[in-house]
Amino acid sequence: MSIIHRQLCFLIALTSTTVTPSLELRQAADQAHVLVGAAVRPGLFSEAAYAATLAHEFNMLEPEDAMKWWVVRQNVGRFDFQAGDEVVRFAQAHGMKVRGHCLVWDHNNPEWLAQGHFTPVQMSRLLQEHITTVMKHYAGQVFAWDVVNEAFDENARVKDSPWYNQPGIGLSETGAAYIERAFRWAHESDPEALLFYNDNGGEGLNGKSDAIYAMVKDFKHRGVPIDGVGLQLHISHRLTQLGVQVHITELDVSLPLDSNGRVQNDDLQRQAEVYRAVVRACLQSPGCTAIQTWGFTDKYSWIGSHSHGTRGAALPFDRSYNPKSAYDAMVAELSAKRSR
Ligand code: XIL
Repeated sequence: MSIIHRQLCFLIALTSTTVTPSLELRQAADQAHVLVGAAVRPGLFSEAAYAATLAHEFNMLEPEDAMKWWVVRQNVGRFDFQAGDEVVRFAQAHGMKVRGHCLVWDHNNPEWLAQGHFTPVQMSRLLQEHITTVMKHYAGQVFAWDVVNEAFDENARVKDSPWYNQPGIGLSETGAAYIERAFRWAHESDPEALLFYNDNGGEGLNGKSDAIYAMVKDFKHRGVPIDGVGLQLHISHRLTQLGVQVHITELDVSLPLDSNGRVQNDDLQRQAEVYRAVVRACLQSPGCTAIQTWGFTDKYSWIGSHSHGTRGAALPFDRSYNPKSAYDAMVAELSAKRSR
């Protein structure tokens, strides 16, 4: 390399350092060998800033609703993969991985199912058919599935659900047996896919996390096919000791809004520290392989309607797609891992 060439490289490096002070999120994630994803709404891919930010900043995505029963199964006899396929196409066009969400949940089911008065035998057939058809459709395209979502309540009991006991698939009052059945069907449908149990509130040490831990331990012991646990927010070290992976699946940190819909600056700093802590906790735990936010821009987040407008600003990009302190904190933690 000539001296001039070397000086030129040095100058370019200097200039680019000035323009881009740190790595960007996707780059930092790639270099730290961790997946950083966002939940997405395919109807928004046509918004240029939405698509560009997503493709540039993330290496994984998950449909926020597009692979749920209420979208895929609007009619009993018909599977509609249009919206889910759009998510997969977007991911493939931009070299991103896709997490699938979710095959079994007591929420977000179509009316015909919730009000259907089916027998347990019929429910069992419906569920097996659903898991098989959806997973075969996406085989080779969706690398990991939330097979069962939010099955435990705060008191560590299996929650009432159309799949458990209302009317259930024939395994009511037998604890996690219906969950096991779903995982076995899932494994038969796509043996390559990673199979996750996903829940909220299972991060700390509490009744719910004990119930999840006991179930996963039992599943591993008996050879029930389970590969990981999705924690909707934080991180637990003890799950990875069971030899399963952890994905942080639905991270968002909502802030109180004033009557003008604005947040306090202090809150944004505190929010950044929470994002930092979650990323750090994941990176320090060898089994934690993915961190995903539930949406990525404050322009589109479920928190607004969920909190009736009292909370918001939960995500790493603001409403105009500008990165917030939370974004900087994530990048800083990912970059620190690379240099550790
Ligand atoms: C939410 C979506 O964000 C909303 O668009 C939808 O109206 C309801 O579901 N836990 C989950 C997610 O596992 O699927 C939920 O997503 C948020 C809570």
